[in-house]
Amino acid sequence: MSTRGAALLQPDAAGLARAAEILTQGGLVSFPTETVYGLGADARNDRAVAAIFAAKGRPSFNPLIVHLGDITAANEICDFNDDARCLAAAFWPGALTLVLPLRPQAGISRLVTAGLDSIAVRVPDHKVAQGLLAAFGGPVAAPSANASGRISPTTAAHVRDSLGDRIDALVDGGPCFVGLESTIVACLGTPTLLRAGGIPSEAIAACLGRPLAISENPDAPVSPGQLLSHYAPIGQVRLNATARQDGEVMLGFGLMDADLNLSPAGDLTEAAARLFDCLHQLDAMGAARIAVAPIPDHGLGRAINDRLKRAAAPR
Ligand code: TXA
Ligand code: MG
Repeated sequence: MSTRGAALLQPDAAGLARAAEILTQGGLVSFPTETVYGLGADARNDRAVAAIFAAKGRPSFNPLIVHLGDITAANEICDFNDDARCLAAAFWPGALTLVLPLRPQAGISRLVTAGLDSIAVRVPDHKVAQGLLAAFGGPVAAPSANASGRISPTTAAHVRDSLGDRIDALVDGGPCFVGLESTIVACLGTPTLLRAGGIPSEAIAACLGRPLAISENPDAPVSPGQLLSHYAPIGQVRLNATARQDGEVMLGFGLMDADLNLSPAGDLTEAAARLFDCLHQLDAMGAARIAVAPIPDHGLGRAINDRLKRAAAPR
């Protein structure tokens, strides 16, 4: 695979050492995690973090997730209360992001937190991400490696096609095995779900021994009027479709007549892993109108439906 602009690095020791060196110099490196590909920069370097926002075309008030190798490294930049310790012990490394009080002296760029006094942190469960964090030895700020508002990347080719000429390097670690962004939980008081994601909220509530509160911020829409267009394919999306209408391309789930199928077996884990790649494929097919089959709204299905609702939101 060739990249326009970005150096394509292999996920071996030499490639990771080069990627770490680029981060140290303030460059942008896209790397795989178990959820989606991230667009990484040194979280302590204002200019490098600003370059993330520029490359994505992202509004700078939207704060970023900081990636760390383990809970000890995370503890250096934020404060863990009992809930946070319990969740980190149960789900890290993994697809859970915790929003915790920032340690002001930790040296994290104010651009990372968009000036908030809390910070989002995560320990990824991916060999290549862990290898890069170990080689770099510091906190890596990384949003998903897609242009703002577009479909998140689950392969190196997705990153190359959307940001290839705006980043310094891309580590190709193959397809992401979870395929949906991390679940975000704020532990600043009552634990609160800010974004459904790769770890079902039922599992998180079970670990805490009580239900999660649900945020009403516009990033976690509760009513159609609050829906933010996001994760959007080029075509128009119609949800809960049981059959194609004229001119539609059908994205199926379970045994049915469809042009693409998230999981013919009706498996939510497989559907999550394939969702963004299917949306990318629909773009590549030039699908102008897309009908999407109903997805069961439990477990990972909730995060899938959250992404689909945003893909269908008016823009
Ligand atoms: O799986 C993932 O989480 C991927 C991979 C690369 O780790 N990253 C990712 O990052 O999805 P991003 O930037 O696309 O989404 C970050 C989300 C945003 O919705 C942002 O508003 C929220 O995290 N966030 C970050 N810091 C926050 C804070 N202090 N308080 C509340 N929300 C925060
Ligand atoms: Mg994103």
